Amino acid sequence: MGSSPGAGLPSHVDVLVIGSGIAGCSAALAAADAGAEVLVLTKEATAEESNTWYAQGGIIFRGLEDSPERLLADIVAAGAGLVLEPAARLLAEEGPRLVQQVLIDRIGVPFDREGRDYHRVQEAAHSAPRILHRKDHTGRAIEEPMTRVMAEHPRIRVLTRHTAVELITTDHHALVPEFLHGEPRCLGAYVLSEATGQVEPVRAREVILATGGLGRLYLHTTNPAGARGDGLAMADRAGARLVNLPYVQFHPTALYHASGRFLLSEALRGEGAYLLGPDMQPFMTRFHPDGTLAPRDVVARGIHQVMLETGSPHVWLDISHRGETWVREHFPDLCAISARAGLDLARGPVPVVPAAHYSCGGVAVDADGASSLRGLRAVGEVSCTGVHGANRLASTSLLEGLVWGTRAGRAAAASGPSGTSDGPTVAPWRHEHEPVDPALVAQDWNTIQHTMWNYVGLVRNERRLVRAGRILAALDEEVSAFYARGTMSDALVGLRNGVRAARLVARAALKARWSLGCHYREDAPGMPLPGRLRELRPMG
Ligand code: FAD
Ligand code: SIN
Repeated sequence: MGSSPGAGLPSHVDVLVIGSGIAGCSAALAAADAGAEVLVLTKEATAEESNTWYAQGGIIFRGLEDSPERLLADIVAAGAGLVLEPAARLLAEEGPRLVQQVLIDRIGVPFDREGRDYHRVQEAAHSAPRILHRKDHTGRAIEEPMTRVMAEHPRIRVLTRHTAVELITTDHHALVPEFLHGEPRCLGAYVLSEATGQVEPVRAREVILATGGLGRLYLHTTNPAGARGDGLAMADRAGARLVNLPYVQFHPTALYHASGRFLLSEALRGEGAYLLGPDMQPFMTRFHPDGTLAPRDVVARGIHQVMLETGSPHVWLDISHRGETWVREHFPDLCAISARAGLDLARGPVPVVPAAHYSCGGVAVDADGASSLRGLRAVGEVSCTGVHGANRLASTSLLEGLVWGTRAGRAAAASGPSGTSDGPTVAPWRHEHEPVDPALVAQDWNTIQHTMWNYVGLVRNERRLVRAGRILAALDEEVSAFYARGTMSDALVGLRNGVRAARLVARAALKARWSLGCHYREDAPGMPLPGRLRELRPMG
């Protein structure tokens, strides 16, 4: 059906997919293949723009002497005891098959080859080389053909520059009273068209939230601008259950530069890059026997510790011993990113620091992406399947988006006959027209990002978290007030969601009075006893 910014919103579809990264595309394709009419929305100008597009290192496949059991063991070990084993097992068993069927056979992703087989890399905390990649821009190599195949599907329509504003629920937006007394249900979403400035309801039998992560809540992040926690905030307002929100993963190696932070893939360390302190000496074996290949949270905190001890604003990452030609051939994008910062990755060490990277928590879902709210599924980074526990293993995220996207799409299509539009009438959107001052929006984002970075960051304690809670609560009130009167725009929607999502993470981090995986409390360093882990999992 193709993709367009303003071809008009349908009032009703079978399946509404919000977000067009790997999880949204996988869901849309699976639902449409199973006979559903699907609408995919993205607020971006192109369907490709997403976290998925920027993924570097790769996606898990299977190693030559590998097994689902071995992958499961690695996921469980990285997840610091909080992994939901049946979910991780599902990923390990179904994932490689879907990589073959969907990404290789159907989409034609040109993963790098070595002779007649695929080239497989080994990243931190993996016990085998099992990761497929396309040089250092795997996300682009997946997202480009995937969005193209999706847009060509006869039962999928893709609308760009359309922002989902709010989920429609029987509890909050239905006009017919009898629906108010049943089990709450998601009925669709209010959607803002950037071209018209109008917000209209789109009814759907099933909504699949695939809005990605929340890295942009932090001052320093590897994530692009779209990752502002929209889905989390919408799901929370709609009443869906959220879990594991304290576990925000910080990637150890983002390029340190005045213009921002840019991810320097873990694949560099997988290929032998050294982490060096300000004295140019390796330091990671002080913190973990696996050194630079220890789990991400350990490496990120090791770097933080060395920076604290030495007063240095960064440490160094050095791959130059692999030879200039080899580095340029294997990591062309990373060489280009470094060159733009006036640095040469192929010829010497470059400065790196940790940066917010991935949300391990999210909307609690089952094996088919179903949330606690009927009619609402969540897939990809906005969801919490339980696979990542308290700390995600490298290159599992794209795979999780593929597996849960596919399963949720199939399940959504099977949930009822195509074309049904019964259900309660929903309230039309009430438009307000007070101009929104862009200076307020910019300053409020500054407050969110500084508060999250300094008080809800890599190292947390009660005092900082309480302070963050107060700042964000006050800001939430302010923003809610001008949101209620303001002219609708994507920026206003994003700010409202950003402050809500930040509050949710800060609140959950305060409640979690322990250190586990990537949630590190310097005032509560002890890990909970294994017996308590089951209790911790449903925490929001
Ligand atoms: P996304 O790909 O982020 O897509 C979500 C889409 O929804 C975006 O287009 C967003 O703009 C849109 N959206 C959000 N809110 C709204 C709204 N309100 N209305 C409409 N649209 C909306 N993982 C790996 O497994 N391997 C890697 O090598 C890897 N490398 C990474 C490198 C970088 C730099 C980053 C940032 C992440 C990396 N990750 C990697 C993580 C992985 O890329 C993401 O977790 C994954 O791509 C998320 O996919 P998704 O489909 O859930 O969301
Ligand atoms: C990276 O390439 O280091 C990112 C991999 C990931 O986030 O899984």
